[in-house]
Amino acid sequence: MTTEPNASRIDAGARLLVTGGAGFIGSCYVRDVLARHDGTRVTVLDKLTYAGNRTNLAAVESDPEQAARLRFVQGDIAEPGIVGPLVADADAVVNFAAESHVDRSILDPEAFLRTGVIGVHVLLEAVRAASAAAALAGRPPVRFVQVSTDEVYGSVEEGHSREADPLKPRSPYSAAKAAGELLVGSYVVTHGVDAVVTRGSNTYGPYHHPEKLIPLFVTNAIDDLPLPMYGDGLQRRDWLYVSDHAGAIDHVLRHGTSGETYNLPGSAEMANRDVIAALLERLGKPWSLVRTVPDRPGHDRRYALDGSKLASIGWRNRTSFEDGLAATVDWFRANERWWRAAKSGDWDAYYERQYGTRLAAGRAVARVVRPHET
Ligand code: NAD
Ligand code: DAU
Repeated sequence: MTTEPNASRIDAGARLLVTGGAGFIGSCYVRDVLARHDGTRVTVLDKLTYAGNRTNLAAVESDPEQAARLRFVQGDIAEPGIVGPLVADADAVVNFAAESHVDRSILDPEAFLRTGVIGVHVLLEAVRAASAAAALAGRPPVRFVQVSTDEVYGSVEEGHSREADPLKPRSPYSAAKAAGELLVGSYVVTHGVDAVVTRGSNTYGPYHHPEKLIPLFVTNAIDDLPLPMYGDGLQRRDWLYVSDHAGAIDHVLRHGTSGETYNLPGSAEMANRDVIAALLERLGKPWSLVRTVPDRPGHDRRYALDGSKLASIGWRNRTSFEDGLAATVDWFRANERWWRAAKSGDWDAYYERQYGTRLAAGRAVARVVRPHET
């Protein structure tokens, strides 16, 4: 390991443990890191919940050189017996594993707490133990990256959140993510663990589970199904293309300072209505598919991140929203088998529970907001 300022904390050929590496952002991270062909070895630990999918790593597994540097372990980050040996064998851990959908955290919060709080604690204990053993052997500590979210700041009506701002999570999902972050901070202070936290913005791209806004609306529109827009559709999000999110996490892993948190902003703050209009335009589908439906309880109106700290360590996003959305829509059009499989199994029961009553109460709405709709 090198320690000069701006030098990478992670050497070529490092061993990375990537938890949640079969999900949307984690699998992009694994594909992108292994495709650099720099000798990095990756172990993915993933429980394969409804959101995890091994075929997200098919591109790696079909390339013999990359496949030889990938190991896949199915398991739970909240199980110390599984986690301990894997962390002991790693130079760094990047923790993507989480329940990630806000609406599901409102329906069924328990798994969010188990993975987001107990799971993070289990990982931290293993990192602490492995780092102590490494110190005795004269090796550097195991670096830990906690992948968190801008949602921990709560709804930001104006301005941009900075890393030192108070945490005001408003959903069970974001409360669990905030708790995970606080545990990380406590292990840095109390046990001297080498850890960094990233707070990423709303992410979109290929392999995005169709429960989330952009892939749900793209896939429903392909099938000419109604698009359930919550409330007035004027909620604002800052959209971050998935390979930019994965790249920024990797940059923080290599160049971030232990104990620090880094915002990872997107490239386009937009109202949901404008995102929906853009994806419909790319698909050539009409706005008349959109239904305004009863809002998400506790719906955060806006997220917006100040990215100057990330920029100060040398990261810039590469993908504009226009290019990222075009690539995303085209990927979903070309990969029907993937998203139809994700919309199978328990999907219909989930969809009915989440949208059945809402869609029954839904109504068509104009593309442009009229005064009585705000
Ligand atoms: P995802 O739901 O697509 O993937 C989560 C992955 O974690 C799945 O492969 C799942 O099987 C796995 N997993 C869940 N519980 C596990 C457990 N107990 N043990 C092991 N594996 C488990 O999520 P995503 O959208 O890729 O998000 C990844 C991370 O990034 C999450 O921590 C999320 O909070 C964070 N994040 C997401 C976004 C976004 O817009 N998607 C934005 C900012 C931060
Ligand atoms: O901001 C980062 C967060 O972004 C991540 O931490 C979460 O893991 C990720 O899921 C995402 O959370 P959001 O709640 O912002 O994403 P979602 O795609 O669920 O919703 C985006 C916006 O679209 C939000 O304002 C709610 C709205 N929406 C969503 C769905 C699923 C609708 O109007 N209708 C829908 O059916």
